[in-house]
Amino acid sequence: MLAKILATDIDSEIISTAANGEYPLERLTGISDERRRRWFVSDSSVRNGHARASSALQSLITFRTLNLMGEWPMRGPFDVIFCRNVMIYFDQATRDRLILRYASLLVDGGYLCLGHSESIHMQHSRFKLVGRTIYRKLGGQ
Ligand SMILES: C[S@@+](CC[C@H](N)C(=O)[O-])C[C@H]1O[C@@H](n2cnc3c(N)ncnc32)[C@H](O)[C@@H]1O
Repeated sequence: MLAKILATDIDSEIISTAANGEYPLERLTGISDERRRRWFVSDSSVRNGHARASSALQSLITFRTLNLMGEWPMRGPFDVIFCRNVMIYFDQATRDRLILRYASLLVDGGYLCLGHSESIHMQHSRFKLVGRTIYRKLGGQ
């Protein structure tokens, strides 16, 4: 297995759109031609001007509805967590709690990727900034 990806959102419509795996071609411009050929199909089964995630790519992904404010069924550990443009909805105390919950699910040295307008403000952060809104979990904590 190349990777296992858990993809979540609170909104079931968003999840079913994502699980359909169809993207306007302009959304794929950041992906190399080689990767596009490997992981996407754009044949007659796909809407004009769109590409669909291949069955090989879809087989790596589990889609689930999840309220980040509720109980989490997943145990981890995860190598990478992407949480982009979601914490903007939460107050600072809620964000701090969420960051700690993410830290508990990540392996030491794992990555937390936030949206470009988001950051970790905790005084005693378990993370180190290693790229533009990319944080690495410090080990041994
Ligand atoms: C601005 S969109 C960002 C979507 C995507 N991460 C991106 O960067 O394109 C925010 C998403 O957060 C989801 N969301 C809002 N509150 C949430 C919660 N409590 N738990 C899980 N997802 C939530 C919304 O349904 C929405 O799909």
